[in-house]
Amino acid sequence: MGSRIIGTGRAVPPVSFSNQDLERQLDTSDEWIRSRTGISSRYLMRTGESLLDIATEASRHALDKAGIKAGELDAIIAGTVSSEYAFPSFACQVQRTLGVTSIPAFDVAAACSGFVFALSVADNSMRAGVWKKVLVIGADALSTMVDWGDRRTAVLFGDGAGAAVMVSEPGPRGVLETLLRSAGEAWDLLSLRATGVRASADSEWRRDVADTLKMRGPELFKIAVKSMADITRQVVERAGFTLADVRVVIPHQANIRILNAVADRLGLPYDKVFVNLERYGNTSAASVPIALDEALEAGRFGDNDLVLLNACGGGLTWGASLLRW
Ligand SMILES: CC(C)(COP(=O)(O)OP(=O)(O)OC[C@H]1O[C@@H](n2cnc3c(N)ncnc32)[C@H](O)[C@@H]1OP(=O)(O)O)[C@@H](O)C(=O)NCCC(=O)NCCS
Repeated sequence: MGSRIIGTGRAVPPVSFSNQDLERQLDTSDEWIRSRTGISSRYLMRTGESLLDIATEASRHALDKAGIKAGELDAIIAGTVSSEYAFPSFACQVQRTLGVTSIPAFDVAAACSGFVFALSVADNSMRAGVWKKVLVIGADALSTMVDWGDRRTAVLFGDGAGAAVMVSEPGPRGVLETLLRSAGEAWDLLSLRATGVRASADSEWRRDVADTLKMRGPELFKIAVKSMADITRQVVERAGFTLADVRVVIPHQANIRILNAVADRLGLPYDKVFVNLERYGNTSAASVPIALDEALEAGRFGDNDLVLLNACGGGLTWGASLLRW
């Protein structure tokens, strides 16, 4: 028994902020942001908006496309580090907004790798026969946790949510192989000390600077390239394929220079890598499921194609999953 994604969905806050919008409040430039990151705009939560609403909308889209009612789900797993509450989990909050009772709902905290980690938890449980229908969510709003005076981090992140409905199936389609890794010794390369209050780009008050997202970007850049390339090669080999067999790579969207460097290391043509970060920025755990949903909608892959998901983020964490669609 294995598991297969049968519906995907995405949702973002209503307002997109361009690089020019950020120029007005930070010492930065559209030219710097585009050339160093590939990002042109990102959706940012404004004061009063709720990531829970956004994740619920993405989940409803995924359920609709799967043709499954929320009440049929056996579990909800959310990859997120952005819950407004230390507890209950974000997944429990989504459970309530979806109106589902008596099923397990919990979060997986793996920062930008959150969706890939959550997908693996769902897949393994379904392989073991524990659940038959699972909603997996990736949702984050890191823009509410950055230091809006720090141009090195504030321009990078966007907010949003993506979701996938998975069902257990005997195969041959579905999740073929997943590999996960963490390097706790390097946790201080990307961290956030406390969740605390939200401080959106438009809010008047600011988080205590000590409680904002901290990142050692250049060091992280090198590790992200190596780890994403290595895990991608490994997961494909372990599943008995070569990279040439893969139809499309759907990576975590952190920086176009990271994505190109990973492709170069792997000898992958750039057009095999789905990129949408110019419109979203780095949406952390939401980036892979948002990209998956968009790539599917754009016809970048179809039934029986091999689709590779990979991600790297705070923890450090990284992982990759090979799917036969
Ligand atoms: C963050 C990142 C884009 C920075 O790019 P970089 O080329 O390494 O840039 P640096 O941090 O070395 O900074 C170079 C210069 O640009 C400046 N700079 C940084 N951010 C800037 C901005 N938004 N606007 C204008 N200038 C900026 C710096 O101050 C520095 O100037 P200095 O040399 O006068 O001090 C890049 O390191 C990166 O993408 N790292 C990985 C981050 C990541 O993926 N994190 C999430 C992982 S999931």
